[in-house]
Amino acid sequence: MNHPHGTFSEHDYTPKLAGLDDLGSSLITLTVDLNQYRENLRAIRDFIAPAKLICVVKANAYGFGAAGLVPILNEFNADISCGVATADEALELKAVGYQGRIILLGYTHPKNYYQIIQSGCQLSAYRPENIPALAQACRHLDRPLELHIKIDTGMTRLGISLDELPGFIRQLRDYPQFRVVGLFSHLVDSGTPDAQVNAQQEGQFLRAVKYAAEELGYTPECHLANSGGVLNLPHLHLDSVRVGILAYGITPPGEFTALPPVQPCFQLASEVIDIHRVLPGRGVSYSHSWRAEQETTICTLPCGYADGLPRALSNRASVLIGGRGHPLVGNVTMDYIMADVGDQAVSIGDEAVLIGRQGAAVITLDEVAKLAGLLPYEIPCALGRRVRRVYVGK
Ligand SMILES: Cc1ncc(COP(=O)(O)O)c(C=O)c1O
Repeated sequence: MNHPHGTFSEHDYTPKLAGLDDLGSSLITLTVDLNQYRENLRAIRDFIAPAKLICVVKANAYGFGAAGLVPILNEFNADISCGVATADEALELKAVGYQGRIILLGYTHPKNYYQIIQSGCQLSAYRPENIPALAQACRHLDRPLELHIKIDTGMTRLGISLDELPGFIRQLRDYPQFRVVGLFSHLVDSGTPDAQVNAQQEGQFLRAVKYAAEELGYTPECHLANSGGVLNLPHLHLDSVRVGILAYGITPPGEFTALPPVQPCFQLASEVIDIHRVLPGRGVSYSHSWRAEQETTICTLPCGYADGLPRALSNRASVLIGGRGHPLVGNVTMDYIMADVGDQAVSIGDEAVLIGRQGAAVITLDEVAKLAGLLPYEIPCALGRRVRRVYVGK
């Protein structure tokens, strides 16, 4: 479907899921520039070569909408594969046309083994007690399964310990249905290049690689680095890296020692739907946490915490209207926020940029996240389903 602002991914919009027409009533838009997204993927691919890129597109591609990005991901053929967290995400990625390899990096409940084996996705394995059920499902479907063994080198989240690894591999070897194709772990503090934990994790992971090679008779694909690891720990790029946030042109928290030429590929914007000229002393929004000190103009924008704008931005963040920054005033409400535009002339329908560029002015995701006391990841991931995802460019 064509939207005045670009190609609209029906997949992500709630009324469509209910079989209704899109009335266009939702006036908060996340615009993703597919050309810039492609440039970012190319820049990261070239930066990490000869390592390969696994794009982590879990949580609906961090909120940017996996369905809208799939055409670009497909262009890269075997240069890129995708990682997701859940079985639903894996099947959804296939359903919207993703043609490459999909790795389920997270926890998969045994009730989903059949669907995953049938889908041809690769699965992470780390719990010995689940292996018989997994093998049974493979036998029943008469299908093989490719596995990535997940090692816990320090996150204490998911994964098998180094001590248990040799026995686990021997267990897997007993089943002809399985082929171990990968070995991976996750970094605790990749935003701090000289953190001791990086060296500890590296040491443990390299020992795991050695054990695996001895037990398997070959070395599977090894992957350890996330975006922070890509930027800070080039010696840990190994065979592949798993990149999430950096693909959108957002740097992960912490330091970075080198940066491929990526740029933010998105903008979050709404529009002015009401205008109030107010006198000194006039309060705005719940609890009147802000009052006008002088006569001024207050604009109302139809987006709020139900759309994922953190309430912590109340009286903190700014929006761009008419090419200039204006403070948000009063508390963020469920469906609306208000901005103080002073004496600037404004009209109903004027664009209001919450994150992104308007003329020469820019508000970065990083700034907004910091003001809200959040990680940059949390903002796009929390964008609600009223937020229209629009994909521009080709
Ligand atoms: C196992 C795993 N690998 C890679 C990533 C990607 O991390 P980032 O978005 O920092 O690149 C994540 C994200 O949380 C993850 O859980």
